[in-house]
Amino acid sequence: ASILMVASEALPFIKTGGLADVVGSLPQALSQKGHEVKVVIPLYRKIWEKYQSELYFDCEYSVSINYHEVPVRLYSKMEGDVCYFFIQHQGYFERDTLYGYDDDGERFAYFQKAVIEMLNQLNYWPNIIHCHDWQTGMIPCMVKETHDSDPRYNAIRFVYTIHNLLFQGNFGPEMLDSCLGLPYYLMENGNVKFDGGISFMKSGILYADKVTTVSPTYSQEILTPQYGEHLEAVLNMRKYDLWGIVNGIDTKSWDPKTDPMIEYHYDKINVRVQKLKNKLALQKELGLNQDEDVLLVGCVSRLTWQKGFYLLMEQLDALCAAPIQLVILGTGEAPIENKFRDLENGNKGKIVFYNGYNEEVAHRIYAASDLFLMPSLFEPCGISQLISLRYGTLPLVRETGGLKDTVDAYNEYEKSGNGFSFEKYDSNDLINVLYYACDVYYNRKDDWQMLQTNAMNTDVSWENSANTYSLLYNELMNQ
Ligand code: ADP
Ligand code: GLC
Repeated sequence: ASILMVASEALPFIKTGGLADVVGSLPQALSQKGHEVKVVIPLYRKIWEKYQSELYFDCEYSVSINYHEVPVRLYSKMEGDVCYFFIQHQGYFERDTLYGYDDDGERFAYFQKAVIEMLNQLNYWPNIIHCHDWQTGMIPCMVKETHDSDPRYNAIRFVYTIHNLLFQGNFGPEMLDSCLGLPYYLMENGNVKFDGGISFMKSGILYADKVTTVSPTYSQEILTPQYGEHLEAVLNMRKYDLWGIVNGIDTKSWDPKTDPMIEYHYDKINVRVQKLKNKLALQKELGLNQDEDVLLVGCVSRLTWQKGFYLLMEQLDALCAAPIQLVILGTGEAPIENKFRDLENGNKGKIVFYNGYNEEVAHRIYAASDLFLMPSLFEPCGISQLISLRYGTLPLVRETGGLKDTVDAYNEYEKSGNGFSFEKYDSNDLINVLYYACDVYYNRKDDWQMLQTNAMNTDVSWENSANTYSLLYNELMNQ
């Protein structure tokens, strides 16, 4: 099929979280399967600064926002077999960060309109438009409500993938007309209305031909009030068209055998000795006590409550008393950052908090750590635990969403598993399983090694999931 993916971030150009990993690697995997895939994202300042000289200028046109014609400049660049398009508008996208502005609704309304008109400008008509998360949720609705008399637009089928239901893109009702150019009756019939305003996420769920999310477990969880973020009723209306397809990772850029950002390369045969060397190197780099015997726990994460940090905060004494070293890399909410800063100050040499976003340090943490901490409150899929498995770093996770689908808990009787897990969102359970992992690490070294081998044998590639997406696209095209 010919597929256009629309998203707000994609590697290698720009990343704030797992969405960028997915939109960077899934298109490549699909193109390996014979699909023709293109991707379109906004042209943020960071992309412009780094890639300016490599971008090809395609064309210029305009779309209407707030009853004014606003210019669009379209650029592109090939990455492997995949063509990436970039929508440029200085005012909207050349800012310090990607999201979190008062005019986010307007910014991404503009983006979506620019994407829809891009097809016409380029005379490019994909079979499928695959939209990701709230920033792209209005596209199926806008095409179906305002372009339905045009057979070229009419032939397109839409897939909408939910990466995180928490972020919904809910805005005031006035935007319907002023920015999106949609008729007001959509408020009255309820298709886009949410809480007195409009919801990009809800609209995506209702107007797409198929809805997917990033793991089978999360696809079930979001049908319930506990995980549904007030959209469970809407999701239940689409449950026969809702697929849960687990993410993979780019196994070329995440490969301990060749990773240029780590010092000591390894495979599953020499993981034990090489990991020790990587551990000593990281301890030195970050100012931890040099000790190759200690169990090193790593954490690379956006610092938000979603990731389960609340459980850690409840157990700081037990955490500090554990026979471990802990390294945390992340940025995010101020209260969490402050706590981790205090924690480091009270435990110099044992706990280190690297406050920032740093790709290279992330690679070295995955390679050097023995255990990776991810006790999420909810987790649509999770990329970090997949990277950890690939690096022989055992994930310690809560059994929710994609974590449940990808981590198989250690079973000491059957001698099986590739990590550790606990079920209830309860900090005692987290600490118990952490101490249990310490016991296995220090006292049952053969079992630890078995777990490490199993982790590295786990298939975290896109192979299976790209096949499932292919099935989904085929089903849509035969409809
Ligand atoms: P989410 O998308 O919810 O943040 P995921 O586990 O799906 O969680 O993806 C997170 C991705 O972002 C992983 O590739 C992880 O390594 C990366 N990441 C998160 N925080 C940082 C950071 N501070 N520095 C470098 N990489 C980070
Ligand atoms: C979201 C989710 C994360 C998922 C990622 C990519 O950011 O929080 O669980 O892995 O999207 O799908």
